Amino acid sequence: MRKFILKTTTTLAAAAVSVSMAHAGDVEVLHWWTSGGEAAALNVLKQDLEGQGTGWNDMPVAGGGGESAMTVLRARVTSGNPPTAVQMLGFDILDWAKEDALADLNDVAVKEGWDDVIPEALQAFAKHDGQWVSAPVNVHSTNWVWANKAVLDANGIAVPANWEEFEAALETLAAAGVTPVAHGGQAWQDATVFDAVAMSAGGPEFYKAAFIDLDEEALGSDTMVESFRRMEVIRGHVDDNFSGRDWNLATAMVINGEAGFQMMGDWAKGEFLNAGKVPGEDFLCFRFPGTEDQVTFNADQFAMFDQGGKVSAEQAALATAILSPSFQSAFNVVKGSVPARTDVSDEAFDACGKQGMKDLAAAAASGNLYGSMAHGHAAPAAVKNAIYDVITAHFNGEYDAATAALELVDAVSIAK
Ligand code: GAL
Repeated sequence: MRKFILKTTTTLAAAAVSVSMAHAGDVEVLHWWTSGGEAAALNVLKQDLEGQGTGWNDMPVAGGGGESAMTVLRARVTSGNPPTAVQMLGFDILDWAKEDALADLNDVAVKEGWDDVIPEALQAFAKHDGQWVSAPVNVHSTNWVWANKAVLDANGIAVPANWEEFEAALETLAAAGVTPVAHGGQAWQDATVFDAVAMSAGGPEFYKAAFIDLDEEALGSDTMVESFRRMEVIRGHVDDNFSGRDWNLATAMVINGEAGFQMMGDWAKGEFLNAGKVPGEDFLCFRFPGTEDQVTFNADQFAMFDQGGKVSAEQAALATAILSPSFQSAFNVVKGSVPARTDVSDEAFDACGKQGMKDLAAAAASGNLYGSMAHGHAAPAAVKNAIYDVITAHFNGEYDAATAALELVDAVSIAK
């Protein structure tokens, strides 16, 4: 806790410095894209804007999933000094919109025809009371597995088709002395794995009932107990140093062959690409076994903080740049995500990106597209954090699977 406060204070001091250096004509952007792959993608946006004469005042707050960034944001807003633009996810956008903190982007959206090209599932988080309040950058999804191809080949492991095959693959790797699962023990990463594990164990109706409808019966069900039991299997196949590890360092373990698999959203692909790795040759991407038809999505968006009633020229320029089709292709190719517009060609994307685009369209058409619990697209932050606490306590051995399900029912009922 102490460490966290220190870190936040340092970040706030950095924020104060960066604000004093801001010029009119700059956008100040608060974000958590600090890993190698993320920074490479962010550069595409910076350069795009700078090419149009809009300066970039960078305000990075490290911490995957954005929890620390949201803490810094709250402090900035409370002190009357909100950043111009903020990377944000799902329910956080709606929460700030309800506080009347966000600039109205309707003029830009109407002029650029956003209604026609941005999928409904994203509009649900980008609009408040019929007004556009944020600009979607991408669509990520969490139910992916990333694998080192050479490690799998050397151990005779094919892409697992179901949970049982996946468990067998983990055991094969353990017997061969390879770390089966690269994982970082941070609450948001534990929850990211849980997204896929629960979807696989119980299917989409169960996932929706538990995490979107917050139905007590589903939260405390035998299927939830089974989901926790499967988390124990995964916990049994991580290395001894998993605790607190950043997600991109876990990805690096798969990249360099130290580990076989990582369960992580497709921002992990940005790390493989940044390391010069090629999908299908060096690494494999596949949907978590048993979730091949589903997509648990999270979309990064940029919300613009109201700077006095009107969207500034710089904020409008940023929103326009983000939704331009050429930017949507260039950025998402590097980031690992897929476009937030439905009319962008998949030509520039690699095999995993092409699959991501196909999966997203198919899941949306068949009713298999669900918001990610772990990344703020299933329930508001208070509920999300309550779920995190139980998942992480269980992952670290505080509860058995049956107790964890009971704790989940209680935690959600208190938080909602
Ligand atoms: C997610 C975000 C991604 C990626 C990831 C790890 O919440 O949507 O863009 O940055 O966190 O930092």
